[in-house]
Amino acid sequence: RPDIHFGKKESVKDTARVLGRIYDGILFRGFSQKTCEELAEYSGVPVWNGLTDDYHPTQILADLLTVKETFGSLDDCTVAYVGDGRNNVANSLMMGCAKAGVRYVCCTPKELWPDEASLAEAEEVAKRNGVDIRVFDDPVKGVKGANVLYTDVWVSMGEESKTAERIKMLRPYQINMDLMRATGNIDGKLMFLHCLPAFHDFNTDVTKDTGALEVTDEVFESKYSKVFDESENRMHTIKALFVSALCDRATI
Ligand code: NVA
Repeated sequence: RPDIHFGKKESVKDTARVLGRIYDGILFRGFSQKTCEELAEYSGVPVWNGLTDDYHPTQILADLLTVKETFGSLDDCTVAYVGDGRNNVANSLMMGCAKAGVRYVCCTPKELWPDEASLAEAEEVAKRNGVDIRVFDDPVKGVKGANVLYTDVWVSMGEESKTAERIKMLRPYQINMDLMRATGNIDGKLMFLHCLPAFHDFNTDVTKDTGALEVTDEVFESKYSKVFDESENRMHTIKALFVSALCDRATI
């Protein structure tokens, strides 16, 4: 609910305990990662992160399922994320790929490189799973050999004041057919993913004057694009998360 106002007239700790008496689980989709963690600590029920400023883990489960469904397996697969390399989706994609043993390449300007501690943590996990993580500021070099090109909006929630600066900075990171071709896999194993919503045409208030931002309409509407399978898979993976956490609880 948008009108909960965590911490305004009631501490998150108290709200957590109230919600925990009413619900069997809480899916938090908000802003502060800290609020999400406090809900998990004090509610006494399973809490799922449905999106915060820092992470978007439930999205990544759907992404990996989409890759597996499309290619038949996650083996020998390289995911290249192109854009804002340290937003919520990029942070979780980096860790999700590391955990799933999928090579991850982040193509992003120096100013937006992943946070050092998160990168080190993900590298450690990736190494244990036999893969590596690489970060490039040159998208054309970075995507070489990639099987999945993934992007997200250039300006994430809460950063709206940076819109003009970001559009300028990230323009060279737009996913277009030239970048798809730069993978070297245009006739082979290649797909495009986006967590949505995507700015790919003139049909939104934000892009009615600018047109496509992070991905061209040509790529978004191409045979490589699996974005609607990906969005459907959110439903299946989130249901699976609910079942696994609630069934575990039932057996305690
Ligand atoms: N990075 C995006 C994700 C939207 C699902 C945002 O924070 O707006």
